[in-house]
Amino acid sequence: QLAGRRVLVSAGGTQEAIDPVRYLANRSTGKQGHALAEEAHRRGAEVTLVTTSTIESSPGIERHQVTSAAQMADAVFAAAAATDLVIMAAAVADFTPATKTDGTPSIELVPTVDILAELGRRRTPHQILVGFAAETNDVEANAKAKLERKGVDLLVANDVGAEGVGFAHDTNEVLILSRSGARVRVPLTDKVAVAGRVLDAAAAAFSHPPAPAGTPGRGGPRPPRRRPGGGAQP
Ligand code: CTP
Repeated sequence: QLAGRRVLVSAGGTQEAIDPVRYLANRSTGKQGHALAEEAHRRGAEVTLVTTSTIESSPGIERHQVTSAAQMADAVFAAAAATDLVIMAAAVADFTPATKTDGTPSIELVPTVDILAELGRRRTPHQILVGFAAETNDVEANAKAKLERKGVDLLVANDVGAEGVGFAHDTNEVLILSRSGARVRVPLTDKVAVAGRVLDAAAAAFSHPPAPAGTPGRGGPRPPRRRPGGGAQP
């Protein structure tokens, strides 16, 4: 069901600069996001990947290398309007250091843009939005609340406190909740298999065939290639 669809995936953890040398980061490696991009590509979608990760990607995937939450926001917003399915698998920092002044070292944090919530506000008709949630307790209740709060169609929740789940592992165990009330539990398996289940759920959310090539915004010309932050493609 993904053949001919335009799919945008974000992957990896963002780095937020404290100064030119140091940064704040998180434990995400980008494995789950890259697995989603590769699986969508394998299923015939036109895939754009916005990533902070150094994991390689297939040549047929349009890749934008970014570092910070702000760069990720720019790259995602630039591509999102022309996509059918947006999957925010990235671990985006919720806060970034404020501009540093001289004096006693201290890190003051300011909020970043909530990319997914903004995508929810900007969504185009028929576009499917997928968010991820890394939870440590009350996984299902928190995931349901996040699905509503962020205005997404699917929310993929993982219990990052569980063995073999979440950041840096090759395996994952997730609960996929959909706006329609559907609920799919994917037991511990490799991240490629999890990607397949997430894409199955996303494909089921499409209730219309892909638009023919040439239709503006859906199957029409792709947005120009951008590499925010000047990052090189690994
Ligand atoms: N996300 C985003 N932009 C941000 C932060 C998060 O787009 N600035 C996206 C992530 O890519 C993920 C989803 O939002 O798909 C959930 O992220 P999370 O940080 O868990 O959500 P929060 O609303 O910050 O929830 P919490 O209070 O549990 O941290």
